[in-house]
Amino acid sequence: VHHVEPDHSGSIQRILEVCNGSVEVLCHPFAVKLLQSLYTVSFKFRVVKDGEEFSIGDKTLKFLYAPWLHWPETFITYILEDGVLISCDAFGGFSIPKGIFDDEVDITGYLPYVRKYIIDIIGQNSDYIIKALDKLRNMNIHPKVIAPAHGLVFRKNPGIIVNYYEIIAKCLPEGDKITIVYDSMYGSVEKAIVHTIKRLEELGMKYIAFKFTDLQHSSISEILSEIADCKALIIGVSTYENDLFPYIDYLLDLMVKKIRIGKPILLISSYGWSRIASVKLREKLSETNFKIFESIEFQGQPSSTDLQKIDESITRLINSIK
Ligand code: FEO
Repeated sequence: VHHVEPDHSGSIQRILEVCNGSVEVLCHPFAVKLLQSLYTVSFKFRVVKDGEEFSIGDKTLKFLYAPWLHWPETFITYILEDGVLISCDAFGGFSIPKGIFDDEVDITGYLPYVRKYIIDIIGQNSDYIIKALDKLRNMNIHPKVIAPAHGLVFRKNPGIIVNYYEIIAKCLPEGDKITIVYDSMYGSVEKAIVHTIKRLEELGMKYIAFKFTDLQHSSISEILSEIADCKALIIGVSTYENDLFPYIDYLLDLMVKKIRIGKPILLISSYGWSRIASVKLREKLSETNFKIFESIEFQGQPSSTDLQKIDESITRLINSIK
């Protein structure tokens, strides 16, 4: 059992019942209690050590601990004779690709699902991706095939998924994309953001925008994925119940946990009678890698002067990230 999370271990109870308990379960020491906590069948455990080799038939399995990819008990298996790395959650991706192998599908179309998977599933532990990559390199393990439990198996070019994992674990920007996220209750923030988008288009900037309004709730996981590789963020937020608008508040909590490299933020904020949202946002991000580049705040709807300030601030933001 590489990993106890039920998408990996969920069938073990049935398998052991079919085998009448005659098999050993090989697992990380941490996995023993976790498995016992989830399943009622009795187990015969055999704890594997990091680097241990195990012969079965004409194959040699080398077990390598891969802590926090995605739980502390996770390990991966390298088949020495074939150069195949059975990598569990690591090197996986979301989506249901049209093929099983990397040579059967459009990799460019698949990689954004890998980015979303990394950030949403192991983003908080992305340091451990780097550690695992270093470990493989230091052990001179360069798999010919990488077979994760989720998504494509890489047999043509495993280097693609290794390199992409490194880029995303480090949250390195891919191009000059600006990610915009905003809420709007009365259309005031939206008016400013619509203007912002028009300005970005005039300047030929690549952007992606997400919103939380009465008509649309964007996917938090999509937003996090698009923050991971952006160059800068534009956040539009309104004051709600003497605080940040709740979805933006929640998003910021996850963003700080899952994205290790901060991005500059242009803050656009509307308030009724007190500038609460911007104050709370600054407080929330004060001890993080995310820094407020500039902020534009207005009472109610943005005036033409406010829109002019947005134009000027966007120009400065773009100059700062180029
Ligand atoms: Fe951590 Fe695929 O589960």
